[in-house]
Amino acid sequence: MKIRTSNFMKDKSNFLNMRVLPLTICSLLSISLLLLYFYNLPFSPSSKNEFTQSKPIINIISQSSLLVPPPSSSYSEKKKAYQKQCDYSKGDWIKDTKGPLYNDTTCSLMKEGRNCIKHGRPDSDYLYWRWKPNECYLPRFEPKTFLQLINNKHIAFVGDSVARNQLESLLCMLSTTSIPKLVYKNSIGKDSQFSRWYFSSYNVTISLYWSPFLVQGIEKSNNRPNNELYLDHVDEKWAKDMDQMDMIVFSIGHWFLLQAIYLEGNSILGCHYCGLNYTDVGFYDVLRKSLRTSLNSIIDRRGHKGKNGIDVVVTTFTPHHFEGAWDKAGACPKTKPYRSEEKKVEGMDNEMRKVEVEEVENAKNKGNEFGRFRFEVLDITNLALLRPDGHPGPYMNPFPFFNGVQEYVQNDCVHWCLPGPIDTWNEIFLELIKKWEEQPRIDLSI
Ligand SMILES: *[C@@H]1O[C@H](CO)[C@@H](O)[C@H](O)[C@H]1NC(C)=O
Ligand SMILES: *[C@@H]1O[C@H](CO)[C@@H](O)[C@H](O)[C@H]1NC(C)=O
Ligand SMILES: *[C@@H]1O[C@H](CO)[C@@H](O)[C@H](O)[C@H]1NC(C)=O
Repeated sequence: MKIRTSNFMKDKSNFLNMRVLPLTICSLLSISLLLLYFYNLPFSPSSKNEFTQSKPIINIISQSSLLVPPPSSSYSEKKKAYQKQCDYSKGDWIKDTKGPLYNDTTCSLMKEGRNCIKHGRPDSDYLYWRWKPNECYLPRFEPKTFLQLINNKHIAFVGDSVARNQLESLLCMLSTTSIPKLVYKNSIGKDSQFSRWYFSSYNVTISLYWSPFLVQGIEKSNNRPNNELYLDHVDEKWAKDMDQMDMIVFSIGHWFLLQAIYLEGNSILGCHYCGLNYTDVGFYDVLRKSLRTSLNSIIDRRGHKGKNGIDVVVTTFTPHHFEGAWDKAGACPKTKPYRSEEKKVEGMDNEMRKVEVEEVENAKNKGNEFGRFRFEVLDITNLALLRPDGHPGPYMNPFPFFNGVQEYVQNDCVHWCLPGPIDTWNEIFLELIKKWEEQPRIDLSI
């Protein structure tokens, strides 16, 4: 963390006005955090918490009386009930006695750092909440139904480590019905960046593509202080396989906060915290351009006659919950969700989400003329925001307090425990697929 971050923090009052300050703090936190995860830099005292810690007292009343009983009916009957469109993004987390479908003994597919139970997280309340949308009931995940609906299909998760987090949640839930076979794995360092699982009884393939910008990019490294993004070139690491995919889930965001240089055409568009003499253009428009290039490339390559249709889901930005210094024990100490009226999506979370929603709308309009595309957002920013209790925090590492409370401890307040709230993203994903099943694509170009 010896990078610009520390100077930037010291000098901030000189050149930052109040309007950009909250955003900057968010960004800096995320930068420290990402460095922490992706490069494992040593701790540095420069990242002291410089803003007030707010620890609102949460008073969660028992919500069980609000729990709508699940319709005890067959899938087809249920189908009718959900035909009216439901906005899954607005609602509340309510107490649930059932708990998750899987646990660390039943699922061996998850990345170690998400395995909060195995790593000794002492509380388990965070496992007993379910999302209650205001307008409808969100059914529990049904692994069989999911696999039946995507029978003979290939779903690709494309994006960053949050994409992988969602994929692992899905695989763990599906594994309760059918164990997938790992058929491909390409790891760089410790992490698998490209992998593919196969469910033979359903002929279903689920794959993971590491592409944190979706467009072509060179990731920063020891001798390259900035990421380099080529905003008008889709990242062929995933796009080259597009013809084999039936459904793509994009999940990106946090990598856009890092220092970077942006190129478009043959020229430099600008940069972000890059320390060079280029205009700092921020990252919202950059996220927009990256998404647009990627969604356009799908329309361009899959819009022709003779090509099968394709479904594209964009998981919206997931907020982090750092309340204090990322290297202190209580970085995301909450053990209960917020009530919906306690927290609203705002600031950077809101801007990132907005860009994603707008670009999906934009792609819908463009893709409409072909009839063989379905674009949708998986709008989880709000429900994720309400779950400060769902992150591994210090339990990203096994038994972090085994030798007593440490002064410095790595915390993960960005990713999600497995099992955990991220399982709900996939419950909504399943509802989306069910909805699509009832509204088949019409190929307008034949
Ligand atoms: C994990 O799930 C299995 C199967 O549902 C159950 O038998 C076991 O007790 C669970 N383990 C824990 C630690 O909850
Ligand atoms: C199996 O699924 C793939 C898509 O992943 C599809 O191309 C292929 O036709 C399917 N095979 C059968 C026998 O349906
Ligand atoms: C930065 O660029 C501006 C305009 O392009 C130029 O006037 C200035 O001298 C440059 N500063 C440095 C330190 O290179």
